[in-house]
Amino acid sequence: MSHDQTAHPSTQCVRPEALPASTTRSLVPPLEWSVVFEFDDLDHVDSVYAGQSAGYVYARDGHPNGTRLANQIARLEGAEAALVTASGMGAEAALFLGLLKQGDHVALAKGLYGRTQVLIDKELSRFGVSFTLFDSTEPDSLSESFTDRTKIVFVETITNPLVRVPNLSKISEICQSRGIYLGVDNTFAPLICQPIALGADFITHSATKMIAGHSDATMGALVGKKSEIDKIRPISSSFGLSANPFESALTLRGMATLPLRMKAACQNALELSQFLVFHPKVIKIHYPGLQSHPDHLLANDQFHGEFGTIATIDLGSRDAANQFIRNLKGRIPFAPSLGDVATTLSHPVTTSHRGLSETERLELGITPGLVRLSFGIEDQADLMKDFEYALSRLS
Ligand SMILES: Cc1ncc(COP(=O)(O)O)c(C=O)c1O
Repeated sequence: MSHDQTAHPSTQCVRPEALPASTTRSLVPPLEWSVVFEFDDLDHVDSVYAGQSAGYVYARDGHPNGTRLANQIARLEGAEAALVTASGMGAEAALFLGLLKQGDHVALAKGLYGRTQVLIDKELSRFGVSFTLFDSTEPDSLSESFTDRTKIVFVETITNPLVRVPNLSKISEICQSRGIYLGVDNTFAPLICQPIALGADFITHSATKMIAGHSDATMGALVGKKSEIDKIRPISSSFGLSANPFESALTLRGMATLPLRMKAACQNALELSQFLVFHPKVIKIHYPGLQSHPDHLLANDQFHGEFGTIATIDLGSRDAANQFIRNLKGRIPFAPSLGDVATTLSHPVTTSHRGLSETERLELGITPGLVRLSFGIEDQADLMKDFEYALSRLS
């Protein structure tokens, strides 16, 4: 129905004009932030619910910006489908809540992002889910962690913060032979690794990190077969895990430069690691691009010659780490996330792995002197100057 020009201003104000006529289209995906979508009549509702005509109903269940982002992430991963969520933890929650029943068991890689282990250990355990930790760099030990209720094996492409690289093909072979799902958190390695091609069933992303890339959007994605993702979609909506349109659009915009950012950051990580490995103040450096790294050859193969954007250095003590962080103030920020355009620092003991006990952390090799470096796209010589400045001032 056309606009009623005789209506009272209070009525006119709440009835927006129809979209202006235009024979051109916007170049960039428009932001469609409507919570709800309008139907022509009851038959139209029936046909959308029956899947006979395309359409959205309510934004928590899906919206155009979310679909565009999900499709783009699915393509990035060479997968059939993806579901976007309000955070990386949302994607993991969607996976676990979607697949697990009371009494089920999961095998979790040691050294996962701290909150991932907390999700199972502290939250899903309340619903009867149990777990066993296994060393993802020793795939042959994986079967020992299985019970007759093991449903999911969950690993990270590159472990955090010690940047070990599990052999995904080997792990997926074991999972497939036992009919167990393999989920891979690919947050650290978008573009350089495609876990689905290596046999994974599901991928999760904290798209908050490299995919969005500018530390201004919190976003997650769950990737997999269309039939599986379609089953998990309503569960994600029931638990309220859905992503919102604005951050979906922002993340999609960030993704346009993902290949450029990834290339520059991987290059910075490699060259700075080659500089730091010889620095007398650095007790140890963990980076898969270094030949001394235990997974160097595997990483070279699995990531097609790239080695990721994260390196972790050990400065020997909390005091040294603290001093290093203070020395870099105004140059390289201490901001406990990763994947920004700027290089950032994190201290795993006080941030990402804070939820683990000291014994658990020490078992994983996470000591108070560790500082995790997430490389950005700055000029390499400037980064080198900054690190040299901060390290040379350590007492
Ligand atoms: C490897 C990894 N997975 C998952 C997450 C959780 O993602 P989000 O913070 O977007 O919920 C993080 C967050 O730092 C992470 O580093």
